Amino acid sequence: MKLLIMGPPGAGKGTQAEVLVKELNITHISTGDMFRAAIKEGTDMGKKAKEYMDKGALVPDEVVVGMVKDRLLKPDCAEGFLLDGFPRTLEQAKALDATLQEMGIKLDGVVNIAVPREKLMARLTGRRVCRGCGASYHVLFNKPAVEGKCNSCGGELYQRSDDNEEAVGNRLDVYEAQTQPLIDYYAAQGLLLNINGDQDIKKVLEDILASLKK
Ligand code: AP5
Ligand code: MG
Ligand code: ZN
Repeated sequence: MKLLIMGPPGAGKGTQAEVLVKELNITHISTGDMFRAAIKEGTDMGKKAKEYMDKGALVPDEVVVGMVKDRLLKPDCAEGFLLDGFPRTLEQAKALDATLQEMGIKLDGVVNIAVPREKLMARLTGRRVCRGCGASYHVLFNKPAVEGKCNSCGGELYQRSDDNEEAVGNRLDVYEAQTQPLIDYYAAQGLLLNINGDQDIKKVLEDILASLKK
């Protein structure tokens, strides 16, 4: 299956993607995770991306589009993939359409997780992420079994540098201005699967799996 998962910052894209890719046996491609890996490695691209990310701004389209194209051509994407956090602008969406057309493949669906804006600040400022495997937790809504440690790999949990009130405010504004219009773009292509993300994590997963079966 070839899927996108969309939604505002904090909607639960990463949380759901983690389980979905195992259920569906497909590859998870998160552009945010790819940039964080580049920052950790200290590459030039990582250094440039960090300046945008820490402010809550988007990394320029030309950087992201090339990176995703290279990733989609890797053999582990042949059986299917879940793109998380890409595309985020109309330009990125058009570039993705062109890339998929060149590859001779089509998307099967676009999962759109909706959560009211007023819920997102608390989700993001309380988030903790595993340094080892990238899994997301929350200090109130999704606590690890042992404080500060990842349930699946035992890795240390940390707070993302863009999960502070100022950066989150910018990320939400950027989402509404630049990414939200893609909902109409994919609805027009008949690909949109709308999911209520303002429910228990398990219920959201059930709804996504049910909508994919239809
Ligand atoms: P990215 O890493 O993609 O961040 P984001 O879009 O802001 O989304 P998040 O990862 O913050 O949220 P999520 O939906 O994955 O939520 P999660 O599951 O963790 O991108 C970061 C930056 O990289 C961007 O700002 C930009 O600078 C750059 N970038 C990335 N892609 C780009 C692109 N295509 N173009 C340009 N720039 C790009 O959940 C959040 C929290 O809520 C967790 O604590 C979780 O435990 C909790 N939670 C999850 N579900 C529920 C629930 N149902 N109920 C209660 N709590 C829940
Ligand atoms: Mg994420
Ligand atoms: Zn982990």
